[in-house]
Amino acid sequence: MSKKHFLFSPGPVMVSERVRKAALHEDICHRVPEFEKLIKRLQNNLLQVFQANDDYFILPITGSGTAANEAVIGSYFTTGKHALLINNGEFGCRLEELLTTHDVPFTHLKYEWCTPPDVAEIESCLKKEDIDAVIMVCHETSTSMINPVKEVGQLAHTYGKTFIVDGVSAVGGEDVDVVESHIDFCTTSANKCISGLPGVGIVCAKISRLEDMKGHKPKTAYLNLYNQYRMLLNTGQTLNTPSTTMFYILDEAVRELLEEGLENRIRRYKECAGMIRDRAKKLGMKMAIDEKFASNTVTTLYLPSELAVDGFIAEMEKRGYTLYPAKRHLKERNIFQIGNMGHIFPDTTERFLDVLEQTYLEMKDRTLIKSR
Ligand SMILES: Cc1ncc(COP(=O)(O)O)c(C=O)c1O
Repeated sequence: MSKKHFLFSPGPVMVSERVRKAALHEDICHRVPEFEKLIKRLQNNLLQVFQANDDYFILPITGSGTAANEAVIGSYFTTGKHALLINNGEFGCRLEELLTTHDVPFTHLKYEWCTPPDVAEIESCLKKEDIDAVIMVCHETSTSMINPVKEVGQLAHTYGKTFIVDGVSAVGGEDVDVVESHIDFCTTSANKCISGLPGVGIVCAKISRLEDMKGHKPKTAYLNLYNQYRMLLNTGQTLNTPSTTMFYILDEAVRELLEEGLENRIRRYKECAGMIRDRAKKLGMKMAIDEKFASNTVTTLYLPSELAVDGFIAEMEKRGYTLYPAKRHLKERNIFQIGNMGHIFPDTTERFLDVLEQTYLEMKDRTLIKSR
């Protein structure tokens, strides 16, 4: 068997043996009571991960996180509805692409990457403009920034707007509380902080908002949330054939998360991120954002200029650790990312950091010798 490889990238993530083994289920048809039972359990457990109450409904969707985002945008924004998009990174841009593709008119509050959105500007926009829904990313994975979801949720509530949050890299790793933050639609995916494998996108939706969709003309057929909601509600089954194996794996990952406890999971991620940041500082690697905004699961760092990101990442890959180059213009600034989502613990992190330090110092020495 090949040597174990570790994913210190922001998804997909490593999973436990227990979660991996869930793939070895018996052959099953998705229209039998046993599978309905699995979906019901998954829905109930996921409500806890979103810190939701009985006003919310979970819709698991075969596909990646983007499928969940597209389902919300394509189902909620019927003709005439106007969005306010808050965008400060790559995944804000992906929401922009979805809104544009679905011909949704939107006001765009665009901020520099690595910069937090201006809550006062958001409020003045809500006062002035005819907005139906506010949409934003919670954890902007491309920079590791946690955006001010609670504050914006309070504004959306005060001004009577629907609030849509891309929680793909946040749910299960940050304190995402859909009730407290007045979130109407929150998305996530199986293969980030929940520590499952890729293949299921998840929408946690306010039931009243789903009911409001009755009779509306959606902009998507396959991902039509209202139809999926009615089917799940009435039969306990999904409308189309789901990826049964991925549902089994997700079910196991969510059970594992709840056994660890949501707070403990968040605390573990925070501890590992803290270890990464302390060692990076020691090595002279500066963070690309102000640490007070940084998430519990991704660290975005400048690689000191003696080394180039691609070479460093390739060397770490050879030594058994996957890291991520930053996206777009951040990569040109020699920025890279370390993730600590998934089945990663302080001891794994310590071993990884020793390899990172050794690799960095060796490569730096070689560069210095060459330049003499
Ligand atoms: C915040 C955020 N939104 C959306 C996505 C897209 O998810 P997927 O690649 O699973 O479609 C990602 C992926 O990293 C993400 O981090």
